[in-house]
Amino acid sequence: MARPMRKVLVIYGSPREDGNTDILLEEIVRGIKKEKNKNMEVEKVYLRKLCIYPCRECRACDKTGRCIIEDDMQKLHAKFLEADWIILGSPIFFYSVTANVKAMIDRCQALWARKYLLREHPGEKPKEKRGGWFVCVGATRGKKLFEGASLTVKYFFDTTGVPYRGELLVRGIDKKGEVLNHPDVLSRAYSLGENIASLS
Ligand SMILES: Cc1cc2nc3c(=O)[nH]c(=O)nc-3n(C[C@H](O)[C@H](O)[C@H](O)COP(=O)(O)O)c2cc1C
Repeated sequence: MARPMRKVLVIYGSPREDGNTDILLEEIVRGIKKEKNKNMEVEKVYLRKLCIYPCRECRACDKTGRCIIEDDMQKLHAKFLEADWIILGSPIFFYSVTANVKAMIDRCQALWARKYLLREHPGEKPKEKRGGWFVCVGATRGKKLFEGASLTVKYFFDTTGVPYRGELLVRGIDKKGEVLNHPDVLSRAYSLGENIASLS
């Protein structure tokens, strides 16, 4: 029997094109798109190419569940609610996610308001059929390197109604494309893609 079509949204959160985060996400996509995984529809979103203004904290969304700022974020809200699997990638910037990712997450306050203030769950699919993964790269090796970013991303996934399923956290990678010198890490990324595809 044919497996149901699954929508995968891959969010590229680094401002650096072809950098380490891009490379890892591409490996994951390669794993997802293996020959037999024809039921996976992958959509890539490059935050660096989008116009996403910071949240103004006007609180209009508290009452309406809608953001009043007209920019590319409106389209993203719909994509978050439609996706089965969401993979978010970001390098560590000052122990957090990049400004690109943080602006996107803050603008999910409208979805948070829908869920927690207005008690609406428009478009949300059953949780067991959804999942979110966080892919993150940092230059240093400290034990707490990913703590801030992971917590932020967990709350992003919660707001979009997506259970946090796992993470690929890579320390000690700094220069553009340096992760290509680490076949073990690339192989972990590829396997993660295969695993995600096998979940459907
Ligand atoms: C503005 C900025 C802040 C950074 N802050 C940190 C940091 O706090 N900790 C760290 O380990 N690496 C930090 N880095 C290094 C990046 O995380 C690292 O170079 C990463 O590999 C970049 O991934 P990319 O190629 O996908 O952009 C920072 C880099 C920049 C440009």
